[in-house]
Amino acid sequence: MFKKDFAKIYDWEISLMNKQQTRDIAFWGDFASSIDGQILEIGAGTGRITIPLLEQKNKIFALDNSDLALNQLRKHQDKYPFLKIVKADMSNFNLSNRFKATIIGYSSFQHLETLEEELSCLKTIHKHLETGGLLGIDINPVICDGQEELQKAHLYTEFCPQTESVISMYTSYKTDLIQKIRTWNDLYISIDPKGRQEQFTNKIILKECNLDYMRLLLSDTGFEIVEVYGSFDKTLISQYSQNIIYICRKK
Ligand SMILES: C[S@@+](CC[C@H](N)C(=O)[O-])C[C@H]1O[C@@H](n2cnc3c(N)ncnc32)[C@H](O)[C@@H]1O
Repeated sequence: MFKKDFAKIYDWEISLMNKQQTRDIAFWGDFASSIDGQILEIGAGTGRITIPLLEQKNKIFALDNSDLALNQLRKHQDKYPFLKIVKADMSNFNLSNRFKATIIGYSSFQHLETLEEELSCLKTIHKHLETGGLLGIDINPVICDGQEELQKAHLYTEFCPQTESVISMYTSYKTDLIQKIRTWNDLYISIDPKGRQEQFTNKIILKECNLDYMRLLLSDTGFEIVEVYGSFDKTLISQYSQNIIYICRKK
């Protein structure tokens, strides 16, 4: 999902467009504070969640398949001796380490498009966890809601300090209602103070995973669900939940 210029503005855009999601940092901070040992963070990306966990002295092994995103995280490498970074695919990786816990934040699991990849990912995580180890996953259950297709809708025009330019963002999407997959094609038009214009694009593909589907996937891959929350404030699940957070234990 990360193209070159998008990696630079990713963290800024989330705090601008999806403030509710940024509450996940405190949630995962609380989860990680009880973990005494190394945590595997899958889909760590630019380190939006990783850095706050390192700040509270957690030991993090950050895994992602995007070098462009990981390059942003690598900038912090010198500051945090307990940060390890690996480029790998979450559906098939092989590390010598065994972990006390794994976190898959911000819908990262939903980038997997097939059942085979999802099962393979969860089985691989299971293998990398110590006995009794914990898995936390944040799922967005409403990927395919609303209209099936959207053409170039303007979402924002804002000054971005990271690029020192004014960015206008337009989104378009198509939904595959059979596979339950939505593909966004986002367009960014950036104008610097001298009036120079640049454009870049970004593509995001996410699969909808509902409550029953996740329960089956997790139990079939050897996990016991110990907690399910409907928000980062640990409320119960409702039809309005934008996030479902599973805390599971390796059986
Ligand atoms: C929505 S971002 C979340 C990034 C970060 N955890 C956060 O909360 O801001 C999803 C991340 O998953 C990564 N990703 C997508 N598919 C992946 C795969 N098959 N294996 C590993 N990482 C993947 C993307 O590169 C991206 O960094």
